[in-house]
Order: sequence, then C-alpha cells, then structure tokens
Amino acid sequence: MTDRSYPLNAWYVIAWNHEVKRGSMVARTICDKPIVTYRKQDGTPVALDDACWHRLVPLSMGHLKGDNVVCGYHGLVYEPGGRCIHMPSQDTINPSASVRSYPVVERHRFVWIWMGDPALANHDLVPDLHWNDDPDWTGDGVMMEVNANFRLVVDNLMDLTHETFVHSGSIGNDAVAEAPFSVEHSGDGATVTRWMHDIVPPPFWASQLGKPGNVDRWQIIRFQGPSTVAIDVGVAVAGTGAPDGDRSQGVNGYILNSITPSTETKSYYFWSVCRNYRIKDVSLTTQWREATKMIFGQDEAILNAQQEAIDRNPDKVFYDLNIDAGAMWARRKIDQMIERESKRARISA
Ligand code: FES
Ligand SMILES: [Fe+2]
Repeated sequence: MTDRSYPLNAWYVIAWNHEVKRGSMVARTICDKPIVTYRKQDGTPVALDDACWHRLVPLSMGHLKGDNVVCGYHGLVYEPGGRCIHMPSQDTINPSASVRSYPVVERHRFVWIWMGDPALANHDLVPDLHWNDDPDWTGDGVMMEVNANFRLVVDNLMDLTHETFVHSGSIGNDAVAEAPFSVEHSGDGATVTRWMHDIVPPPFWASQLGKPGNVDRWQIIRFQGPSTVAIDVGVAVAGTGAPDGDRSQGVNGYILNSITPSTETKSYYFWSVCRNYRIKDVSLTTQWREATKMIFGQDEAILNAQQEAIDRNPDKVFYDLNIDAGAMWARRKIDQMIERESKRARISA
C-alpha cells in the first residue's frame, strides 16, 4: 500500500465548464492541495496554487485584474503562469516569487486539471466522456461534494447490484441483483457487462420506452482509471436483438461519472445523465437530472455513512463477494497507477 490513495499523474475534473468564469475565481481542494481556477480574457482556463508566495493567504480571496491575480492581503500580482510580476513598494521582484501553475484542459463540458508531473500531461489521456457534448446526445448533471474517499464512490458505480436495495423505488428491481455479469479489463480500464433478458422493466425504464411488455435491459459499466466511469444503460423490447447490437427498438442513456479526490475522506463527484432520444425535449433533460439527483442522494447517504463507519472502525477490513469483481478490478487499476508513479519517482530520484 502507498500512503496516498490516488495517483497524481491523471486528469481530474476540477469544475463544470460553466462554473469557471471570466472575472471570478473558484477555490477547490484537489488531491489535498488548495487550488484556484479562473478564466483568462480569451477564455482559456487557468489553475494555480491557492496560496500566496508571500504569506500563504489564499489567492482566491483576492481579485482578478485582466488575466492576472492580485493577492487580497498585500497586493502581489501573479500572471497565469504563476510568476509574480508586481510587488508593492519595490522595483526588483524576487526571482523565486511564484506559485505553481497546473496544466488544465477543457473537454466534454468539464475543466480538467493535472496534479502530477506537467511533462506527462498529455491531452490524449483525458477520459472519454464525449456524450456530454456530442450533438447526437443531450444531457445535464451537477457536482456533489461527498464526504467519502473517491474509491468508495467508484465501488458504488462498479457494482449496480445495490440498485435493488438502495434504489428499489425507481431503477432497481430483483432482476438486477440476480442477473449474471461479466468483467473484462485492459490497460487502466475495466468493464462490467450485465444483460437482463426478457424482464419486466422497472417503472423508470417502462415510462422511457413507452411500449408495453417485457424488455431486454443492459448495464455496461466502463471504468477508466483512476476515477471515471461511463455507464451505458437502456432497455429494448424483449427479443428484438439488442444484445446482438440492434438497439433500434429501445432507448439508450449514458450515466457519466468522474470523481475527483479532494482529501482522503472527501471527493467532488461530477456526474451527468445523457440520452440519444427526444433530444430536443428540454423538460425531459431536467426531469432526468432531477430524478438522478434524488437517486444519487440515496447513494450519498450510504457513502457518507460508510466513510464514517470506516473511520470509527480502523481495525476492520472489507470482505469481497462475487458482486465486487468490478470494483476489485477498478481498485487494482488505481493501485497499479499509483505504483507506476512511485516507481518512476524512485528511478528519477
Ligand atoms: S500574503 Fe499575498 S501579498 Fe502578502
Ligand atoms: Fe446508486
């Protein structure tokens, strides 16, 4: 085991793109570090350490002047690269006066930050959540601050057996807990596939499909390490070929999730729900988001209670069941990413 539970060489969502505005700053703690993010006048997002070089006051308490941040205590000015370019009552600027600036990229309606080695911050490594801004899809979501380690949120998404028990009134029914599933993995990813053939649809999906009778239902959970989970979900009229790839008699949605470690016991949980039918129906988009908020609120209550119980029972361990196979792979992938990182650090030390 390593002393921290998350890798640093990875893209994490720091904010929804609409949260990061020109002229104002957002302060978040990412991987135990206070970070401030804002937008330059040309729209490019910026992320800096949220602690002034002079006396460590959070820069987010200051203000922006064009593309630069002015510290709210003694007025030191930093440019977006983190270099101090003005000090009050002195002409020479101390050459070490700077704060760390982090690589950021805006993609799939999120602003992502790279907390590790900037030389490795390859944009191709941003997790694929393209459904969020693909013209054939529509959707919306929010960010929830969860009082739980990010792995507990990943566990929750990798095993949808819990739907039957936590979400029995909406998306859960007995078929989910009973259906067999398969797990595959490669690289930093793992996929859990579950098909439920010829079942009575749960109320939510029955209303989305709008056709009577039984359905074939799918849940394909794709984990991209360290903490992004895209879940392909839907139902089709039973026996019309959905398991073989013909989804024309069905409805399809994607539940997109990316969880950013804040501290060991807090995470920012960014999610959205997207669909590829009735995409002009804005009220349906709002209904989906609100229904999901209610459903994920049930998960949040469990996760917060679970983290508290973990903290109160430091001598106890987890036991694994068959249903945990997906979550175990995700945890293994996260551990491998951390291990790779420490190996690299040992080599270059
Ligand atoms: S603490 Fe920022 S200028 Fe002094
Ligand atoms: Fe859930």
